[in-house]
Amino acid sequence: MNALKIGNLTARTPIIQGGMGVCVSLSGLASAVANEGGIGVISAVGIGMTEPGYRQHFRESNKIALRKEIRKARLLSDGIIGVNIMMAVSDFDDLLNVALEEHIDVAFIGAGLPLKILGSIDPGLLSESGTKFVPKVSSARAAKLIFKHWADKYGRVPDAVVVEGPLAGGHLGFSKENLNNTTVSLFELVRETVIEINAFEQQFGIEIPVIAGGGIYTGKDMADIMRAGAKGVKMGTRFVTTTECDVSDAFKQNYLSCSPEDITLIDSPVGLPGRVITNDFVKEIQQGKQKPVKCPWKCLKTCDHRKVQFCVAEALFNAAQGNFTQGFSFAGTNAYQADKIRTVKETIDLIKAEFYQEQLHVVSLPVH
Ligand SMILES: Cc1cc2nc3c(=O)[nH]c(=O)nc-3n(C[C@H](O)[C@H](O)[C@H](O)COP(=O)(O)O)c2cc1C
Repeated sequence: MNALKIGNLTARTPIIQGGMGVCVSLSGLASAVANEGGIGVISAVGIGMTEPGYRQHFRESNKIALRKEIRKARLLSDGIIGVNIMMAVSDFDDLLNVALEEHIDVAFIGAGLPLKILGSIDPGLLSESGTKFVPKVSSARAAKLIFKHWADKYGRVPDAVVVEGPLAGGHLGFSKENLNNTTVSLFELVRETVIEINAFEQQFGIEIPVIAGGGIYTGKDMADIMRAGAKGVKMGTRFVTTTECDVSDAFKQNYLSCSPEDITLIDSPVGLPGRVITNDFVKEIQQGKQKPVKCPWKCLKTCDHRKVQFCVAEALFNAAQGNFTQGFSFAGTNAYQADKIRTVKETIDLIKAEFYQEQLHVVSLPVH
């Protein structure tokens, strides 16, 4: 298993733990993954919801909580720590600034194309932080668009790119039609993205790793996708059922007890489909039932709380706290594979063992 290099950062275990909001991946999970040589990621989405006064001061609470979690993670690990910030949140700039002030190692940017973000960051802060930027895309075309825009406008490119396929948990960058009769293969997406990114590697004389995510659960999945040219993998679902994951026990049990048929799609107020584990709340949403929304903060840029069917931040936060009558858990298509709660170390050791077993299997296949 080769180390993953992102600029001057080296992760000896090429596994990135996907950032999981709301309050699923915080300092506990992120530091545990970083301690195993991977990249641990704190999700900034709705991170302040446990702070007192959140309803009145959501921006301040998010900033305070993010700073606190980054500092806690640093105390628990000297490994590589990242944050995940969705373009769709209305306090994106605030959260990115806090992360840079805290010299976060990597900023993973999802749910939107980060074309102009560098323009709004103080150049001094940008260079002092040393932070690496890694956008998440769902196609080679989107990757090219971002990289070309950065190259033309800023004379630099992102430090890596995550390409995520249709099997992932959380918000998805595909239409529901594409997800329902999925012909999109992550293997092909990675291959196409590697080709596009190679042109920028040549132009800038640097290495830009392509990282694959979405439906990667076992070491075999990892070995398979690395054959398409991925230099690392991003896993979210797999890390939910770890001891160190910051979410409630009920949330983890929801994963342990689900079956493949329970994993379904909803339309999220973010404007993207989301993959969730079904329950009565989800069924009501799917039937078009309106859930009361009282919104004091407008956390999503595009959300009009008078028109949306339910509040996604509240639903995810409730589930994170173990309240499934008023919420649901995001989960990838492989969530049903969870068989028990393991520590992060046990999980990563298992993935590595599966990875090496798969490599051995391929090496020992007869050649015709
Ligand atoms: C419970 C859960 C919450 C998630 N929350 C976020 C989020 O807040 N922002 C984001 O960009 N991605 C989010 N994701 C996506 C993950 O970061 C990661 O890209 C994805 O889980 C990879 O696919 P997998 O679940 O099949 O491993 C979430 C995924 C899960 C399972």
